[in-house]
Amino acid sequence: MADLMQNPISDQAAQTAGTKGHPKRVRIVPESLKKFRDITSQAEAGGPPEKVEAQKKRGKLTARERIGYLVDEGTFQEFGLLVESRCTDFGIKEKHIKGDGIVTGFGRVNGRPVAIFSQDFTQLGGSLGLAQAKKIANLMDMALESRMPVIGILDSGGARIQEGVDSLDGYGEIFYRNTKSSGIIPQISVIVGPCAGGAVYSPALTDFVFMVKGISHMFVTGPEVVKAATGEEVDFDTLGGSMTHASKSGVCHFVANSEPDCFRQLKELLSFLPQSRYEAPPEHSTKDPADRKIPLLEDLCGMDPRKSYRVHHIIWWLSDDHAFLEVHHDFAKNIVVGFMRLGGQVVGVIANNPAHMAGALDINASDKAARFIRFLNNYNIPILTLVDVPGYWPGVAQEHGGIIRHGAKLLYAYSEATVPKVTLVLRKAYGGAYIAMSSKFLRGDLNFSLPSAEIAVMGPRGAVEILFSRQIKEAKEEDKEALRAKLAKEYSDKFASPYQTASTGSLDEVIEPATARARLIGAFRFLSGKRRPGEHERTGNIPL
Ligand code: HXC
Repeated sequence: MADLMQNPISDQAAQTAGTKGHPKRVRIVPESLKKFRDITSQAEAGGPPEKVEAQKKRGKLTARERIGYLVDEGTFQEFGLLVESRCTDFGIKEKHIKGDGIVTGFGRVNGRPVAIFSQDFTQLGGSLGLAQAKKIANLMDMALESRMPVIGILDSGGARIQEGVDSLDGYGEIFYRNTKSSGIIPQISVIVGPCAGGAVYSPALTDFVFMVKGISHMFVTGPEVVKAATGEEVDFDTLGGSMTHASKSGVCHFVANSEPDCFRQLKELLSFLPQSRYEAPPEHSTKDPADRKIPLLEDLCGMDPRKSYRVHHIIWWLSDDHAFLEVHHDFAKNIVVGFMRLGGQVVGVIANNPAHMAGALDINASDKAARFIRFLNNYNIPILTLVDVPGYWPGVAQEHGGIIRHGAKLLYAYSEATVPKVTLVLRKAYGGAYIAMSSKFLRGDLNFSLPSAEIAVMGPRGAVEILFSRQIKEAKEEDKEALRAKLAKEYSDKFASPYQTASTGSLDEVIEPATARARLIGAFRFLSGKRRPGEHERTGNIPL
């Protein structure tokens, strides 16, 4: 009892060391505190030094350095540092490290809270056992309750083999939470190492996937299994590197040249997003005048309708301060999707891109746009649709690949979306693709067009072949081309303009190109009260 009553600073600790006879206390660190500091610093060091060195040699950051690049300085609060696996099989006990191969906690990005987990490849290859899964699940539960985005930084060999079905069940817990949180809080995956086996399905369930050139790999079965099963020889990068997933599979939305570049891009993405479905996206002030004129749109009106251009230029000119964050840059380039601001308000843009496949819709473009629209609708982000589409891409491969099924997703996503929807027809809008691109009767709120718009069931050349096939067949061979041109001109004069469509009310307004930015900003401001955050039906963001 006497001991307990003593001053925690021992008598020996109080020594006279000051000047002018004033005693200065020298603190002796209590044993418990020393032990605590030793344990935590060991745990924070991650895996053995040689593993950390190997990580660096590969040009990779450590789990904690990654968090450092992401969060505002000094804001990260970790929890679960001392968690360990209880598994003792296959000699794993000797390899146990506190934290169980993952760092979990909360931090702030540009002042706003986010939940973060970061796998540590230097500890058991970042593999996921039960304890690691519980840390992730716990974090995800708290993020959902507190309504903030979850950022998962993945660098792992997948399910921890020594823990058997426990590690598989751990993934089950995570996939379930990914799905339950979908459409409520943004979920973002950053792949900065291997992501193999069933582990790939957690990122695939999240809203956005980042990969880094040279160090990120995702695959269900690796090159060796592929060779054994199918005889195909393929290297890691070709099978599941960043460019493969960014351009071919569409699994990856953002590719970075380095890890710091990756975290910079991620921060930019977060600046466009609300914390949850219950908030509007953050507004930014801008000095960019709402009535800034866009000469390019005037040029478009005089352009040969068959000439291609990159729609990025139009988006760039329309957006505040020319800032546009493109999503899925390398996938389905015939449609462009991304985030911009108009008059300070965040807007998601969907635009046909005539520079690629003439801007026609195909399977991948439909999937890409439909999923993005569903994301925007979940998070109260208004939709701007820029239309220049000659139709659906024809061909056996598209038909057999299910363009009917995939194209329907786009119709579904636009019809379902209840955020403000503003459409601007730039040039062509033909057939089913006209309907799909947020047309009036798919419930576009305000539908504008430039005077250069051509809106019809099909293009002039195709139309005259069907409507006048007998006349063309009966004409002399040398007259056929002139006849086609004459008939196509007549057709164009009637349909290849926006006026017939405007007369039926399918367009709200044909606008002067110079006023486009002002009209769009005005339209979104006018529609901003259409829906209050969180009042809409939750749809989730199912991978399409
Ligand atoms: C346990 C693992 C592990 C795993 C790696 N390690 N993956 N430990 N379970 N899944 C350990 C290694 O034994 C090694 O431990 C350390 O991590 C580093 O691994 P290396 O192989 O030395 O590194 P490297 O050469 O860079 O190769 C990395 C790798 C390779 C490509 C990821 O380790 C690999 O192929 N791992 C298996 C990948 C895989 O098939 N995963 C799928 C599992 S099944 P020491 O002690 O030597 O440092 C799955 C299904 C999930 O995930 C289903 C969910 C529904």
